[in-house]
Amino acid sequence: MASLRLAASWALLFLWASSSVLAFSVPNPSNNFTCQPTQSASGSDPIVLLHGLGATYYEDINELESWLKGKGFCTFSLTYGANQGFPNVGGIIHIADSALEIGAFIQQVSGSAAGAGKKVTLIGHSEGGFQALYVPKFVNGISSLVGMIISMAPPTHGTSLSGFLRPDLLLGSLAVTLFDTVVELVGCQACSDLVDGGQAVGALDNGPIVQPGNTVTIIASTHDELVTPPDTSFIHEPDVTNLFIQTLCPHDPVGHIGEAYDQGVWNIILNALNGNPTAPVQCSQGIPYK
Ligand SMILES: *[C@@H]1O[C@H](CO)[C@@H](O)[C@H](O)[C@H]1NC(C)=O
Repeated sequence: MASLRLAASWALLFLWASSSVLAFSVPNPSNNFTCQPTQSASGSDPIVLLHGLGATYYEDINELESWLKGKGFCTFSLTYGANQGFPNVGGIIHIADSALEIGAFIQQVSGSAAGAGKKVTLIGHSEGGFQALYVPKFVNGISSLVGMIISMAPPTHGTSLSGFLRPDLLLGSLAVTLFDTVVELVGCQACSDLVDGGQAVGALDNGPIVQPGNTVTIIASTHDELVTPPDTSFIHEPDVTNLFIQTLCPHDPVGHIGEAYDQGVWNIILNALNGNPTAPVQCSQGIPYK
């Protein structure tokens, strides 16, 4: 195991040495820009899913994406905010730089056949939930393309625990070695942007967060161990529904990572997509950590 880890480190070092540290994004190859939903009414807008810190389009929000696809929604995702050479660790560059990649992707979805005559819905988890708020506010021309925003556990007002520096909480154990190694080599600008007093947090919270025409649902868990205190996620502005999962599912012990995989949360999201986020749901037992 140790030698494997060493080999992986050398391979990464080689990649790093042979490339500049330019940021880049990776689209999900199954994005279908001619997709037509089998859903009706409000649920028919194309959905862009945004993963959390250190994750990718195929880890974190991927199971929720498959589930929504299976329900007839048109979904789109990408790995954003990675460093060139390290495509398996997304969301680590500065929030403002990731935001530009996400904005360009939203424009692409909006301008495609799948987006014709529609708004784009954003669903994000953790850093992705933060970006779902940040991008419409700061990237030119995006807020008018977006309708609904659903954020799971965004560190809207920062987080008091520097949990973003705890990849053991943030990621599955397999990903930790890779995350550690990449952070050692290129750093994690997003980590310092998102804690209390971080640059991106200061910018987002300076003046109204929600842009005209956008409708926001914030979903948080009272058991969140990483974005703390959990009500740091909430936004006290018009057109926002703030929801603790436990209001609808009192016995759901779900923690920060598990939220993206929790059937009760998925059902809340489905109701939000249909314009009724506080409707009763079928709850799951929850996954405290994953
Ligand atoms: C993309 O969506 C269109 C319209 O629904 C469908 O006909 C086509 O088969 C889809 N392509 C793929 C690769 O799934």
